[in-house]
Amino acid sequence: MHCLVIDLPGMKARLIIDCDPGHDDALALMVAHHFAEVLLVTTVSGNAPVDLTTANALRVLDLLEVATPVYSGAAEPLQGAPRYALHVHGADGLGGVDLPPPGRPAASGAVSQLIDVCEANPDAWLVALGPLTNLAQMFRLRPDLAERLPGISIMGGSAAGGNATPVAEFNIFADPYAAAVVFESGARIRMCGLNLTRQVMSSAGWLDTFRDQNNPRARFVVQLLTFLHERMVHLTGQAAAALHDPCAVLAVTHQQLFNFVPRPVTVELTGRHTRAMTVVDERPLPGSRPNVEVGYTVDSAALLSLIRTGILAGVSSI
Ligand code: RIB
Ligand code: CA
Repeated sequence: MHCLVIDLPGMKARLIIDCDPGHDDALALMVAHHFAEVLLVTTVSGNAPVDLTTANALRVLDLLEVATPVYSGAAEPLQGAPRYALHVHGADGLGGVDLPPPGRPAASGAVSQLIDVCEANPDAWLVALGPLTNLAQMFRLRPDLAERLPGISIMGGSAAGGNATPVAEFNIFADPYAAAVVFESGARIRMCGLNLTRQVMSSAGWLDTFRDQNNPRARFVVQLLTFLHERMVHLTGQAAAALHDPCAVLAVTHQQLFNFVPRPVTVELTGRHTRAMTVVDERPLPGSRPNVEVGYTVDSAALLSLIRTGILAGVSSI
């Protein structure tokens, strides 16, 4: 049963998306292009090497028939070796789908493009769906941008349990030093961590609602989630997947469906067992200085309805 979410016309949010496609990044790009105006897509090493995440971003945008500029970014974290999630997303980062190769090239120079587009569009939210390497490099070059951005919506971290380790979420785990730079930047941060995104789960039943749709985007999502569900069966025993990245997009376009609480959050950099944990301080200490709006609850049914609408409706010009 789908709950109907009436989407009132109004000013569309304008977004800049940094991502590492990745199955859920692909869904996030589809949802963002329906509910918002996407000014720029930048790519980063994460779910797969950056040449693959870049190609995958271009392939998804080709499916949407949009010419959103794509700039490739960091091939490795600020410190240490790259970490990938190919066991989840497949050898090319978008396993299970039969999209053609990219129809256009990406440009390089994500960080300088992020700076230029953020400066030129002071109303545009940043949406970070992968490791935060590009954003950290942007703030290292231009710390003043932290105060100028309306906000950064991050899929990353967790207020309760990890996935890459018992306590660390993958996007933070893949580049904890970059995450620390971003969390300490002074920018307004809205954190959609695993504790929140695991409330928005695709299922076989939800996927079935796409099968009778004569629509290239629906066919793509059936392939995409069939692959991801099969991987999840091996990893979790369940044929279901948390739709992590679309949450960070909808946390900007449909904030009213979420509950965010300001909290002090730090990134653990040295713990033998806790490296890359986002340490959320929930103590009601007088004088505590929250730096992050931590997401705790979301209207899951409404989000699944919006994600489905965004996928089926495609890019909207209104
Ligand atoms: O931990 C989930 C996050 O890591 C998602 O953004 C997924 O795409 C991967 O990047
Ligand atoms: Ca991602």
